[in-house]
Amino acid sequence: MADSSSKSMSRQDLSFKIILIGDSGVGKTSILNYYTKKIFKDRIQSTIGVDFVTKFEDINGKSIKIALWDTAGQEKYRATTANYYKNSSACFVVFDLTDIDSFNHLEIWIKFFCDNSGIKEKENIVILGNKCDLREERKISEEQIDEFISKQNFVYYETSAKNGENIDKCFKDIVEKLIEQYNNKKTNTNKPEKNTKIENKCDKTIEENKKCC
Ligand code: GTP
Ligand code: MG
Repeated sequence: MADSSSKSMSRQDLSFKIILIGDSGVGKTSILNYYTKKIFKDRIQSTIGVDFVTKFEDINGKSIKIALWDTAGQEKYRATTANYYKNSSACFVVFDLTDIDSFNHLEIWIKFFCDNSGIKEKENIVILGNKCDLREERKISEEQIDEFISKQNFVYYETSAKNGENIDKCFKDIVEKLIEQYNNKKTNTNKPEKNTKIENKCDKTIEENKKCC
């Protein structure tokens, strides 16, 4: 998947909004920094409210515009950030593998997102266990994560915004899934429903028309 950040907006074929949520300090901004600029900073300012960055990707000859929304994890911004959940194509719910509280809060974040976004497809909610480079400091076992993920069939990745592990992959996978959903929706919209009535003089179903017209 080639980076085509410099492409003109007019050339885009499709556009998706992806939002990142989760506790403060789990690494949401760092994940986006790595994905969009391939940089990592040890010291980084906590996000105030929301930030926004755009990235273009070329996939199968199509230019895809990805609008990336980075939200503040701090409690005091909760109401403000919820205003930006609407029209999200997908959501990354991030926790820190070295911080059990951030893992325990996943359920609250997911519910908060569902309540405020209007998103229908839960399959477009992706869980990221970040800071997987800090192996010695890991506080959450694979079993604990498996139990949580399998309950609701979430897609899960262990990522590191420091060494880049799985960062490009988790974005590439969700964008490909969104394109597939878009194509399926288009196909279904063009297909007549099984018993659709054809507006003609007979006013009969397709099967009935075969017999009489
Ligand atoms: P808020 O903006 O407050 O919601 O926090 P955030 O989720 O955006 O976290 P941020 O990206 O600011 O990262 C918090 C701290 O974790 C920073 O010191 C980062 O350098 C560090 N950090 C982020 N991701 C990683 C990672 O994958 N590995 C390691 N070792 N440190 C990370
Ligand atoms: Mg941030």
